[in-house]
Amino acid sequence: MPIHRGLAGVVVDTTEISTVIQETNSLTYRGYPVQDLAAHRSFEEVAYLLWHGELPDEGQLRDFRARERALRPLDRTTSELLARLPQTCHPMDVLRTAVSFFGAEDPTEDDGGLAVNRAKSLTLLARLPTVVAADQRRRRGLAPIPPHPELGYAENFFHMCFGSVPDPDVVRCFEISLVLYAEHSFNASTFTARVVTSTLSDLYSAVTAAIGALKGPLHGGANEAVMHMLNEIGDPGHAEDWLTEALTGKRKIMGFGHRVYKAGDSRVPIMQDALDRLVSRAADPEVTRLATLHAALRHAMLTHKGIHPNLDYPAGLAYHLMGFDIPLFTPIFVMSRITGWTAHITEQLAHNALIRPLASYAGPDQRAVPAIG
Ligand code: ACO
Repeated sequence: MPIHRGLAGVVVDTTEISTVIQETNSLTYRGYPVQDLAAHRSFEEVAYLLWHGELPDEGQLRDFRARERALRPLDRTTSELLARLPQTCHPMDVLRTAVSFFGAEDPTEDDGGLAVNRAKSLTLLARLPTVVAADQRRRRGLAPIPPHPELGYAENFFHMCFGSVPDPDVVRCFEISLVLYAEHSFNASTFTARVVTSTLSDLYSAVTAAIGALKGPLHGGANEAVMHMLNEIGDPGHAEDWLTEALTGKRKIMGFGHRVYKAGDSRVPIMQDALDRLVSRAADPEVTRLATLHAALRHAMLTHKGIHPNLDYPAGLAYHLMGFDIPLFTPIFVMSRITGWTAHITEQLAHNALIRPLASYAGPDQRAVPAIG
């Protein structure tokens, strides 16, 4: 029986949500090229598209935005619970705990139906940024800032983190990253959510598990690891030597490589453009140093290994330039990917089959249990 380690190359189901078109190396959400969505649509519109299959008209978008904004505040019990978590834990642990808690206190009977799951998905979409922003402020010794009901999803996140909204170029760059991170077919965290859902468990359990899967540095945790790596290298002139030593030591270079894209991640050029715009407006030697280092490492990796960057490579540096603390980068990924996860949970339930693969046994032959004494 052939063994497919890591399920590489295995097709386990169909999906109508997104696909990578190998011939053109492009990613589509519900048939729309992601670069066009990133250029012309807001993150809220993309969330609606992923959940409903079509882009919203004006009235549908107005209604969707109003409902999302109304759900943003956290209740007192949640805020108190989150404030009691040790600051030594990673913000992804805070987020995972928050989602688990939302599940525990949600009184809605979980019938696995579309309406109930859509309502829960919208609640998570609305509340996750409030949790992430409050956590960043707590770690900085600052009081939380309540959500602003008149601001869009991206702008409100800046408002809750920093008490102000940066100029539209920065917000736009952030929004592009949210659109690009929103969905990517059967990636590890989405597949985790689908496995949990396939047992007919509830949406909060599936999302809690997905957050755990995303946290790892081979998946979403890579955007944080990129920034740690750039800080470790420091000087752009050291990039080449650092890389040679890291590759000799069999280190994985964070933000490079991809299971699906072997000729380059289709999302990278869009995010790199957005990052370049952030860099060019900064006119700051420190930003120039980081951008030069980023480009030097990318060039060295392509030359030495022929491996292209993935989305986490430009996104990691972009989030740093926007002023977010490094441990917030993967939680920001969650704020976006919650849309893809919950779209897949709904799709899994619509034609469910328990996900339960086989393993080829490689342990000892059957043997007798020795008698005690
Ligand atoms: N650094 C160094 N070598 C690499 C890297 C990398 N980042 N990526 C792939 N390779 C090498 C492997 O060492 C391996 O070489 P070998 O055949 O000589 O042993 C070969 O390329 C194939 O790599 P695999 O790890 O087998 O490829 P796989 O498809 O399993 O891995 C993965 C994909 C996990 C993303 C890998 O490229 C990696 O670890 N990257 C770094 C972590 C990262 O950036 N993750 C983010 C993924 S994208 C996202 O979540 C948005």
